[in-house]
Amino acid sequence: MQKSDLKIGDIILAKNPIIEDFSYNLLLVLDLRGNEILCTFINNHNNGLEITDDDLEEGKLGDKRIIEIRRLFTIHLNNCEKIARLKKDSLDKILRALTKYTSNIYFKVFHNKKPFKRIPASGKVLDEEDLFNLIDASLDMWLTAGRFAEEFEKEFPKFLGRRYCALVNSGSSANLIAISALTSYKLGESRLKPGDEVITVAAGFPTTITPIVQNGLIPVFVDVELGTYNINIEQLENAITEKTKAIFLAHTLGNPFHVDKVIEVAKKHDLWVIEDNCDALGSKYKGKFTGTFGDISTVSFYPAHHMTMGEGGAVLTDDPLLYEIMLSFRDWGRDCWCPPGKDNTCGKRFNWKLGNLPYGYDHKYIYSHLGYNLKATDFQAAVGLSQLKKLPNFMEKRKENFNMLYEGFKKEGLDKYFILPQWLIEAEPSWFGFILTIKDDAHFKRKDLLEYLERNGIGTRLLFAGNMIRQPAFTNNDIKYRVIGDLKNTDRIMINTFWIGVWPGINRDRLSSIIEIFKNFFISR
Ligand SMILES: Cc1ncc(COP(=O)(O)O)c(C=O)c1O
Repeated sequence: MQKSDLKIGDIILAKNPIIEDFSYNLLLVLDLRGNEILCTFINNHNNGLEITDDDLEEGKLGDKRIIEIRRLFTIHLNNCEKIARLKKDSLDKILRALTKYTSNIYFKVFHNKKPFKRIPASGKVLDEEDLFNLIDASLDMWLTAGRFAEEFEKEFPKFLGRRYCALVNSGSSANLIAISALTSYKLGESRLKPGDEVITVAAGFPTTITPIVQNGLIPVFVDVELGTYNINIEQLENAITEKTKAIFLAHTLGNPFHVDKVIEVAKKHDLWVIEDNCDALGSKYKGKFTGTFGDISTVSFYPAHHMTMGEGGAVLTDDPLLYEIMLSFRDWGRDCWCPPGKDNTCGKRFNWKLGNLPYGYDHKYIYSHLGYNLKATDFQAAVGLSQLKKLPNFMEKRKENFNMLYEGFKKEGLDKYFILPQWLIEAEPSWFGFILTIKDDAHFKRKDLLEYLERNGIGTRLLFAGNMIRQPAFTNNDIKYRVIGDLKNTDRIMINTFWIGVWPGINRDRLSSIIEIFKNFFISR
């Protein structure tokens, strides 16, 4: 047999048995090197990938066969005869399976259960499926958003119970799109205009607030409650003026805010509601996932979060017009909604007349908004899909870890020093962290405790910006905002609040040691 007669994907028959006492002699060609052929076995009983005659471009096998991707070996060119050839798609599946086999081995050796010395406040939990999904997306060499992004945008909203999802490159981008979308002229009189007010809180993550300012809108800060760290719902209506057009709130650290009341007030005053669900994926309010109540909701997939893509985020809505606008802001501001690599989804690419452009100007290059490019790649979406399968377990583990710390703190009397987390009776939080506020009469400073905890291997975090209006980004810039009352609790949070981890990578032993380390802090004083 000549080398030139053979190609990768050919099925050959070995003339002499390959392994003595083994009858298999049907092989798949995986590579050709000089007179050597790299092959794998095809048999009719072992585990592997099944093929039938439908997988063949040429020749026949008769019965269904199994490709054994785990037994590679070489034979000499003279010892074979070609009998069939696989179709490209079937070969693709087999080569991907082979890659998966080796990437699983790689994961086992280099990434499996790396012990960590410290107990970080947050972390990602990845497995071999996540690694392979990344590789799978690489094998496509598509690079931008593609088939994985499309699938994620279908599966993720299904999981939450929303209609539409735009995958983006971060939770901050999701927040930017959410608020920008509400400024669109396509919303007519309901659109947000510069100078309109958006009610929010100053205790939280900066990028819940910054897109309000970046869009020429005025954030109005209402104080929060200690314990829940959510908006003081009694003060919500006090913040409303005729300029108020939206409420933009996070479910702080996974703890659902008073959804019913927020929606009731929003309905009464005709306000948009945006839920920043970045820290609360999997939390429920009255049995329904948070992130499904607002006109728009956002999610972050940064590694600290409930599931990860490395960097990533999502903007969700049930409203088709808002969805169309969100996509426009995400994709350069364009009017066209074709995904990357596709043209003429609307069927009238050269038949539009918009703006002052001539009739027939290519729809791909018509811009209805001053947009951004905030798309995620297929690598991110691929990991997102494998992480999504594990999300219910991650959520469960976070709850378990939270409960163990909560019960442990109570049992050991640590609630003498700290305000423990509190949540609404209607809420089932999927916690981002275990949040504590040092009581006013405590005889120690947060700085001393956090330094002690960090020295003893417990990672700590503040409630992000503490009080955003005291941050240099606010004090050193001429930012217009309004404050309701004195933000007394927000300031207390800035001074006395912090959180530690409950992420799924922390096991029960680690949680017990956290409680011990806290106890020792007080014994030693
Ligand atoms: C409440 C909240 N919103 C938004 C974000 C921003 O998400 P990202 O880091 O993906 O930009 C975060 C980040 O942790 C957050 O905690």
